[in-house]
Amino acid sequence: MCGIIGYNGYRNAQPVILDGLKRLEYRGYDSAGIGIINKKLQVHKQVGDISRLIDSIPSFTGTIGIGHTRWATHGKVTETNAHPQLNTSKTIAIVHNGIIDNFLELKNHLQQKGYVFQSQTDSEIIAHLIDEHYHKDFQDAILKTIRQLRGSYAIVAISQKDPDTIIAARNESPLVIGIGDNENLVASDIPALLKYTNRVIYLDDGEICILKKKSVTILDSAGTQKQKETHLVTWDVRDAEKAGYPHFMLKEIHEQPHALTQGLVGRISEINRTVSFHEKIERLLRKPIQKIHLIACGTSFYACYIGKYLFEQLTNIPVQIDLASEYRYFSPKQPDAFVIAVTQSGETLDTLGALRTAKKTGCQTLVITNVIGSTATRIANAYLLTQSGPEIGVAATKTFTSQILMLYLLALKIASNQQTISSDDLYHTLIELRELPREVRQILHQTEEIKTLAHNISNSTSLFYIGRGINYPLALEGALKIKEISYIHAEGFAAGELKHGPFALLSPETPVIAIATHDKIFDKMLANIGEIKAR
Ligand code: BG6
Repeated sequence: MCGIIGYNGYRNAQPVILDGLKRLEYRGYDSAGIGIINKKLQVHKQVGDISRLIDSIPSFTGTIGIGHTRWATHGKVTETNAHPQLNTSKTIAIVHNGIIDNFLELKNHLQQKGYVFQSQTDSEIIAHLIDEHYHKDFQDAILKTIRQLRGSYAIVAISQKDPDTIIAARNESPLVIGIGDNENLVASDIPALLKYTNRVIYLDDGEICILKKKSVTILDSAGTQKQKETHLVTWDVRDAEKAGYPHFMLKEIHEQPHALTQGLVGRISEINRTVSFHEKIERLLRKPIQKIHLIACGTSFYACYIGKYLFEQLTNIPVQIDLASEYRYFSPKQPDAFVIAVTQSGETLDTLGALRTAKKTGCQTLVITNVIGSTATRIANAYLLTQSGPEIGVAATKTFTSQILMLYLLALKIASNQQTISSDDLYHTLIELRELPREVRQILHQTEEIKTLAHNISNSTSLFYIGRGINYPLALEGALKIKEISYIHAEGFAAGELKHGPFALLSPETPVIAIATHDKIFDKMLANIGEIKAR
């Protein structure tokens, strides 16, 4: 995962690009670089995070440029491997996110033609290919280049020979265009653009974008001009700032009550005893639903797992859950399944692949996502926005709870349509849901207790999370978070399963976190906790 930004406008490009890179740092930060044209191409790269780039960069002038923050895939972390990557005469600069599958084949071809490679990256071939095809026309050179590329890419390129133009191209890696007044931007993620504009166009696979100071033109891979919809992003630039928190993840944990409130706004009415969505979703939900498939990756998958319990309890509709990476290749063809994909970003490759597979199979599809206009919203028949505000922490927190809320609302809606929930039960549930943000806030007020507990387990080398029923997938998610954030080995288990093997791994030094809520199997949970204590 790398971060990309390009700017073409009336401002000095250097501070705009450096600020954008700072906002993209969460995508990776082992090295970074910037390229600016002011008659000549000026490039500066640096190993380390963006602050090291900022500290070392000479002052470049020029109103057009590109920047990149790298998380190495091909080649070590070195200044040479950092982006921008250049052609031999250093007149063309490109930044790239993705992986070029046929890069060895293309590298051989270029080497036979006399091109000399400086870096170990797959990205450098892109600069040389553009150079090879560049006779008079930059646009033509890019079109010819991308036709040769196989794999995933978001590319942004500038050339000294065409100093007023940025060209961007995308295949399977996100790119969004920011439309300003007398200035236009391109970036891998919305937060990098928000300071300048909230009007955005999402590039689709195979498209390229010609970005001038005063115009934006989108072409398909054949070079034919396309009309694209401009979306208005409701996020504010302040949403993408830390607001006094030491890091984004903590800020996003504390944003949960607000995110949940936003998710409920306009969707539930206690007085009318209804859950409602926009018409496209309502229409989808009115059709008879025989079975539901929930698909996602990572934390979103665990939200789906919880969703399975919710749907099955409330509706009696059988639910299958699948990791998107598995569903894509191994799912049985079931055109009568209603497929719900859950993806915070709306851009996770495997989830997009699974959605496309479902559509090809003939399934009705709905996506739950946080990003309006993201690729997933354009593939699925309808989309439901979580309304959580931008997630920058990467490890999902507020978006996870919002996803569960959306799945719960959908389950309630279907149950109400199918009359598997009584009007009174729905009413009481809606009243409780209204209280949810306040209750989450109460938990977050226990920061000191939580800190003490975290401190007590912070030196453990291994940790168990256990739960039953809906708390089982929650235990899996808890373990995932511990692994991802604390680098401590952690496993989530259904509490009733410990005796079938995992007990062997328990030692007096293994903390076990039990999620025990007052539900119908609370007593069984207590019994499981007793078993663990006995050991
Ligand atoms: C992972 C993140 O890379 O992607 C997880 O670390 C996230 O937190 C997962 O759940 C899936 O992302 P998305 O955007 O499809 O929900």
